[in-house]
Amino acid sequence: MIFQDVIIKKRDGYELSPDEIKYFIDNYSAGTLPDYQVASLLMAIFLRGMTGSELAALTHEMLHSGDVMDFSFIDGIKVDKHSTGGVGDKISIPLAPIAASCGVYIPMISGRGLGHTGGTLDKLESIPGFNVNIDTENFKRIVQEQGMCLIGQTKQLAPADRKIYALRDATGTVPSIPLISSSIMSKKLAEGIDALVLDVKCGSGAFMKTVENATELASTLVDIGYRAGKKVTAFITRMDDPLGQAVGNSNEIIESIEILKGRGPSDIRQLTLTLAAEMIFMGNKAESFEDGMKKAEASISDGSALKKFGELITAQHGNAGVIDNYDLMPSYTDTVEVKATKSGYITSINSTEIGMAGIEIGAGRRVVSDKVDHGAGIEVMMKSGDQVNKGDTIAVINHNASSGIENAVARVLNAYVIGDVKIESKPMIIKEIRQG
Ligand code: URA
Repeated sequence: MIFQDVIIKKRDGYELSPDEIKYFIDNYSAGTLPDYQVASLLMAIFLRGMTGSELAALTHEMLHSGDVMDFSFIDGIKVDKHSTGGVGDKISIPLAPIAASCGVYIPMISGRGLGHTGGTLDKLESIPGFNVNIDTENFKRIVQEQGMCLIGQTKQLAPADRKIYALRDATGTVPSIPLISSSIMSKKLAEGIDALVLDVKCGSGAFMKTVENATELASTLVDIGYRAGKKVTAFITRMDDPLGQAVGNSNEIIESIEILKGRGPSDIRQLTLTLAAEMIFMGNKAESFEDGMKKAEASISDGSALKKFGELITAQHGNAGVIDNYDLMPSYTDTVEVKATKSGYITSINSTEIGMAGIEIGAGRRVVSDKVDHGAGIEVMMKSGDQVNKGDTIAVINHNASSGIENAVARVLNAYVIGDVKIESKPMIIKEIRQG
């Protein structure tokens, strides 16, 4: 096969065959295709898109470029959740113990924060001793014993995606629905799951700014799952304001524990319970979504989800004492209150700016090698629709004598738009996309 012909075919809008896609992934993984030819194909895909069968083949080849986990030794349905990323998005942390305490098996591979969105792994590492670098054998053992385990991506998991993503980053081809979808699904399917719940974020703080784009991404992800023989449901959820009140690491663990204690912000509670209900239903532990919701709620009220979280922390070598004593986690030395500069109603909060303010104080990273300050964080005290008087505290920045504090304050002030008219509150769950 001559790769130039493959590039030309896609450039001219024709469908690539499974053999051509296999040739692309095999040879790029082996280092026998140069970056300039692959970059050219990626741009052709960016401009021309891909059909459902092309995407099925691309995802299949990417996921088989490395190890595919085998959880068939566990008798039960293995379900995971993936979020396309938001500010203050700590949902996986209360969600996994809720679903696991209802009998669902969850082999969860999560990411680190980069740019304005945080990462589940960084948040979990606020818990003293918590280990996210667990080898495959122990990962499988903990999933079997505890019903769940949360770790970081290994080098053996979909390595072709890692290589292609780096090239996309350098060639302006990241925001392509086929390339995003195959990237996400190749990693998720390599976890050896049977079912997946997707939280596709939509709004000012998300990759997908409009419902139309989010729907296209969600439908593509669901279709790839269907073609791979997996159950997939996607929820399109609002990502305008940051989720909950806490944006950071330790403070997001505290907020997650509060949810498991039956408290915490209502938006986090609603989203967590919705995704958990679907996981419990997909995991055959409930007769319907509604029944899954009842079981999820009961796991909070009877304390079983909180107990499960404690067991998970212990299994991953962390100090489960944090559940009753938040002071065991990294904290902050200084606090700055950000005050409203005028009276009115909060019209919108630019979540990206709040996320960037977190980076200014060290709670997030600019580049992969940055160290995270787990104690630093932002408390979003007022949300869209709230009435505010000039001088009221709209957000609190907790930091450890960070040099970026002035920039952080400026970003938070810039994030808040205060107008004269109260805006209608909008639903958190915009729509759901199911198979069949
Ligand atoms: N997340 C991924 O895993 N891949 C993408 O391409 C974009 C978001």
